[in-house]
Amino acid sequence: MTQFKVTPWDVEGLVDYKKLIEMFGTQPIDQPLLKRIEKHTGELHVFLRRGFAFSHRDMDKVLDDYEKGKGFFLYTGRGPSGNMTLGHLVPFLFTKWLQDKFGVNLYIEITDDEKFLVKDLELNEVQKYAEDNILDIAAVGFDSEKTFIFRDTEYIAHMYEDAIKVGKKINFSNVRAVFGFTNQTNIGMIFYPTLQIVPTLFEKKRCLIPAAIDQDPYWRVQRDIAESLGYHKAAAIHTKFLPSLQGPAGKMSTSDPHTAIYLTDSPEDVRRKIMKYAFSGGQPTVEEHRKKGGNPDVDTSFQWLYILFEEDDQRIEDIRNDYISGKLLTGELKEILIEKLTSFLKEHQKRKCKAERVAKKMKYTGKLAKRMWER
Ligand code: TYM
Repeated sequence: MTQFKVTPWDVEGLVDYKKLIEMFGTQPIDQPLLKRIEKHTGELHVFLRRGFAFSHRDMDKVLDDYEKGKGFFLYTGRGPSGNMTLGHLVPFLFTKWLQDKFGVNLYIEITDDEKFLVKDLELNEVQKYAEDNILDIAAVGFDSEKTFIFRDTEYIAHMYEDAIKVGKKINFSNVRAVFGFTNQTNIGMIFYPTLQIVPTLFEKKRCLIPAAIDQDPYWRVQRDIAESLGYHKAAAIHTKFLPSLQGPAGKMSTSDPHTAIYLTDSPEDVRRKIMKYAFSGGQPTVEEHRKKGGNPDVDTSFQWLYILFEEDDQRIEDIRNDYISGKLLTGELKEILIEKLTSFLKEHQKRKCKAERVAKKMKYTGKLAKRMWER
């Protein structure tokens, strides 16, 4: 019996990522693949160096195509069910690195349709979140001439023909098995997977999708049908989940404000949430901690530093060792995180305030956006 669950809508329990690779039938990212990526990028993103990006489908074929000059394109997305959390930003940070290194086109789907169908929200609320989320995403700093960001409800006329071609290839028993649909699932949700698949067909080149592994079920369905429509099977590079504040089980989600740091949080919010809720791998008293030391593997503050905020390999190892030995206390570790996180959010919020202009380019007026509206 597995003690965890990973679906596109839900992550529960302590995820065993090795097991997930077996269950989903993906490939682990191994040393030879890392070397091959590094040959082209000159360095490895911290997610790759530290095993946070841990699994893939056909990344080797993406590199084959790149080396042969055929190229590839990137595709990722966001379901706008609320304000964005730090966890939602994670794939976009990685995607930006990939776009910078490989100089390729990027498509970003904003699924206001999906979130309207699956959540108890009015359509205009979802669309409001969508526009706000787009500014957060634009603030990440993609190449605005080579990036197209679109809301499904607005761009649908340009996707519908592909959507029905995809839809005709997939039968209900397949999506029911993959997504766990029941007789009570609304039929909008049953058609929705076609719309998450369509962007994989935006170019005749191979499509590489950076995302957390929760989105993989869509790519499994895509891979069953893409070649019969004359396209490549989608390739994917999967990250793990940024753990929630309250510990390693599950993922950071929008529905529980305690378990999430929002990109809109103030320095006071950050301090209060980290001090009050960040799960600690330390001991209950200072004396005990000095004697026995802490466990960085389950400690949210350490994990967030490791995954996102301390890229210096020597410095993070020092922090790890000091925590294990008991020299570094939980309160001190939290202070390191608070400082880094606060300055990260301050920078992000500043960029978001100025993101309107680049967002417009990515939506309508940039080179790639214009081409997509004309097609
Ligand atoms: P959504 O809005 O649930 O999530 C947006 C992206 O964030 C990833 N993610 C996380 N990554 C790391 N740590 C976490 N705690 C965490 N929580 C979420 C998700 O994997 C996703 O990449 N149906 C999609 C929208 C979508 C999409 C796509 C996503 C449409 N097309 C193509 C990826 C690729 C959704 O609701 O994502």
